[in-house]
Amino acid sequence: LNITMIGVPMDLGQQRRGVDMGPSAIRYAGVHERLETIGHTVEDLGNIVIEPAKEEPNTKLRNLSAVLKANTELANKVNEMVKEEHFPLVLGGDHSIAIGTLAGLSDHYSNLGVIWYDAHADMNTSDTSPSGNIHGMPLAISMGLGHDSLVNIRNYAPKVKPENIIIIGARSVDEGEKELIREKGIKVYSMHEIDRLGMTYIMQDAINYLKDRNVDGVHLSLDLDGIDPIYTPGVGTPVPGGITYRESHLAMEMLHESNLITSAEFVEVNPILDEKNQTAEVAVALMGSLFGEKLV
Ligand code: ARG
Ligand code: MN
Ligand code: MN
Ligand code: MN
Repeated sequence: LNITMIGVPMDLGQQRRGVDMGPSAIRYAGVHERLETIGHTVEDLGNIVIEPAKEEPNTKLRNLSAVLKANTELANKVNEMVKEEHFPLVLGGDHSIAIGTLAGLSDHYSNLGVIWYDAHADMNTSDTSPSGNIHGMPLAISMGLGHDSLVNIRNYAPKVKPENIIIIGARSVDEGEKELIREKGIKVYSMHEIDRLGMTYIMQDAINYLKDRNVDGVHLSLDLDGIDPIYTPGVGTPVPGGITYRESHLAMEMLHESNLITSAEFVEVNPILDEKNQTAEVAVALMGSLFGEKLV
């Protein structure tokens, strides 16, 4: 593959500082060389510039203008990558950046599938959000629900169809999000299903589901808090009882074998909250599996 990486040092979609250093931590963990060793061609565009937070009265959508600006730029960059037939690999930064990634992908993929690997559903609107943190909203925004300016980046909406979304690893879902999941019939594999059915079954089912939907591309949005915090402590909103390291590698290996994934992002790596860069190292190890590293 021709992989083009871009860093998005965004920390304004939530309230814990340090996640803006996520892209650096992932680079320090050796992402570039790791992917080249597999045989891919890797280009790193560096980081998008995030403008400083202004004082903003809107606590329902914290730092709206800076988040909107960065996501608009990211959307344009990701769109160029897709046009050049490069594989976009986005390094975060908090999960609000998925708004821009999906906006850049979907005017190319008219039937995009999304795998959302996360402890959370990130499906709040400004009305249902308990926090006002935009990193809890990207899936709703991508379905066309939420603040107009965010919903309409690159002047089209919605970006994804609810029936093309699969959430894996959910274990902290707000009431408003539950309602939306039910209303839209979104496919969710919570920790309950993972424990009950096993990761092999879940991934095969997810892959079959997306193939049956005739998707023309699949974006993997991997929030490191989907994994259990014993493996990835460097995240802002850890939730116990998560997916294991081994299950996560298996999931990535199965996605690699499926040949479905056409873009990916790894988000919420916060080196300030981490133990010796362990969380970035897990991110890079999982990328190894996703991009076809062979064990023997
Ligand atoms: N549901 C909570 C909220 O809306 C937490 C969201 C956490 N999201 C994340 N990308 N880590 O604030
Ligand atoms: Mn190189
Ligand atoms: Mn999360
Ligand atoms: Mn998330």
